[in-house]
Amino acid sequence: MAIDNQEFKNTLKLWASGVSVVTAQSKDGELGMTATSFTSVSMDPPQILVCLNETTETGDAILENKKFAVNILTSAQEQVSNQFAGGTSMDERFKNVAWHKGEVGVPVLDEALAIMECIVVNQFKAGTHWVVIGEIQQTRCNVGEPLLYFNSAYQKIAS
Ligand SMILES: Cc1cc2nc3c(=O)[nH]c(=O)nc-3n(C[C@H](O)[C@H](O)[C@H](O)COP(=O)(O)O)c2cc1C
Repeated sequence: MAIDNQEFKNTLKLWASGVSVVTAQSKDGELGMTATSFTSVSMDPPQILVCLNETTETGDAILENKKFAVNILTSAQEQVSNQFAGGTSMDERFKNVAWHKGEVGVPVLDEALAIMECIVVNQFKAGTHWVVIGEIQQTRCNVGEPLLYFNSAYQKIAS
């Protein structure tokens, strides 16, 4: 028996996650979008996945260029998450956010809690989304606390 969209949302919002910005590079410039659909896949080889709506520009660039980075946000980066969640140009999204070009040639956010630079090793379509599997080429970890998302709202770890 199929469930309706509201039932799907009401159920899935009870899954607590971190928040990431997935970044990419096209010949026209840097791209990025907020994503919570990140998960680890395999340790050896080191693979992770993200699920990106087929309508997203960032997803298009990743499928074309076969490279992306996952930037895990800190509890101080709620504004960065909002900035990368659509409604603005790619130039606006990167405004006031420190970044540099990483090893694989995509932008990485300097103040992220952790970054994983990846090469796409597999991709497939599932409903409205692309499931993109990346093999990690480079990581960087910082010290800090993660930004969390639960019940359709940002959350922080209680001290
Ligand atoms: C907290 C949060 C999590 C999100 N997670 C995802 C996700 O995992 N996959 C996805 O396709 N869109 C996700 N979105 C929506 C995208 O960030 C948004 O549609 C995107 O930035 C739009 O990019 P575009 O202008 O290239 O279409 C999320 C938005 C928010 C606020």
